[in-house]
Amino acid sequence: MDTKSSAALKETISRELEEARERTRWLISPLSEEQLTAQHDPIMSPLIWDYGHIGNYEELWLLNRAFGRSLADRELYDIYDASITPRSERPSLNMLGRADADRYLDAVRRAALEELRKADLGGDDPLLGEGFVYRMVLQHEAQHNETMLQTLQLMRGEGYRPRRMAPLPPGNPGGEEMVLVPGGAFIMGTDDRARALDNERPAHEVELPPFYIDRLPVTNREYLGFVEDGGYRREELWDPEGWEWIREERISAPKHWYQKEPHDWWTECFGFDQPLRPDAPVMHVSWYEADAYARWAGKRLPTEAEWEKAASWDPEEGTKRLFPWGDEPPTPERANLDQLAFRPAEVGAYPAGASPCGALGMVGDVWEWTATEFSGYPGFESFPYREYSEVFFDEGYMVLRGGSFATRPCAIRNTFRNWDFPIRRQLFVGFRCARDA
Ligand code: AVJ
Ligand code: FE
Repeated sequence: MDTKSSAALKETISRELEEARERTRWLISPLSEEQLTAQHDPIMSPLIWDYGHIGNYEELWLLNRAFGRSLADRELYDIYDASITPRSERPSLNMLGRADADRYLDAVRRAALEELRKADLGGDDPLLGEGFVYRMVLQHEAQHNETMLQTLQLMRGEGYRPRRMAPLPPGNPGGEEMVLVPGGAFIMGTDDRARALDNERPAHEVELPPFYIDRLPVTNREYLGFVEDGGYRREELWDPEGWEWIREERISAPKHWYQKEPHDWWTECFGFDQPLRPDAPVMHVSWYEADAYARWAGKRLPTEAEWEKAASWDPEEGTKRLFPWGDEPPTPERANLDQLAFRPAEVGAYPAGASPCGALGMVGDVWEWTATEFSGYPGFESFPYREYSEVFFDEGYMVLRGGSFATRPCAIRNTFRNWDFPIRRQLFVGFRCARDA
């Protein structure tokens, strides 16, 4: 990298770091002290923990690991180390309060920018080369922003009132057809080392028979058909573990759904009641619910490889796209990302975001469950730390793809892999179905 492009890359990174922090602070700005420090759900951290953890992760990677510098003492590192402190203990930790956390994050950032000015991003240091470690830290902050929105969606009480909400384009459901993805080999994953995280690598060829995939994510209207057809009472539709789980937890509809009258369904969005939007994608369903719906519909969930091929593979060109629509970055015309709409659009709202096979909404709106358990690709190498993904391989987590309205653009692409347990419903997650051709 020449001096000029290195200076430009540093400039871009500084701007992106600044912008990421603005968003984090904007998200928590309307919150009271109580809303910030309470644990709103046993599976989530107090929001103030996420905030301090964002700063400490930045210190760990942009100061300590990259340049051997440290600001905070050992105790602070332990408090904010997700793999040391289980969520159940997080509320009782001696965390930084709002004002101290503000100061800590600012101090880390000042030092990180100081080091960035002197850094060599053109060499072959795997952390610094092409700015990888900065992209990793940026994506980490974005991922925690989405986690924080999940927490805000679970928060009881007066609800979350953002100071601004972006408008959405109208939907265009137009039929529930499936699109064909021709059989043959495609390239799954990537060898990118500037932005992709370790679990997306290496690129490898996967051969798939032809299959059909839903052109659109499953809507609330379609899912309601399953609910009202007794889907939650028909054991034969369920994975045995899922069946046991819905019986134990007395689950009979997606999380945040309730009825005011028979057949009059409502949802709770960030603490406010909203009539169920029939043409919006179904959201807050577990993997087990998605799997049962697919069986009810005479279909199945797509495998992770099928999902990625449908989103990215251009069979005519024999090339792979970074996003469903191509290699150009996300815009508000292509996908509902970046959090500010605070909800998914109705399906079909982004014709400009179509993938090569004609599937819509594969990136943005809602994450999509796949049939595949989270595991390493052949030839996987953990980098730069095992606790990002490797420790979660083959532990019963299911893969989610495509990002949601709450995902920031820097943290999503066709190869991006997310994962969670099959009982989880706090995610902004829905699904689409597939079937053999
Ligand atoms: C990739 C979303 C599963 O939130 O546990 C955040 C991302 N890793 N901090 C998570 C992550 C470390 C991770 N997920
Ligand atoms: Fe984290």
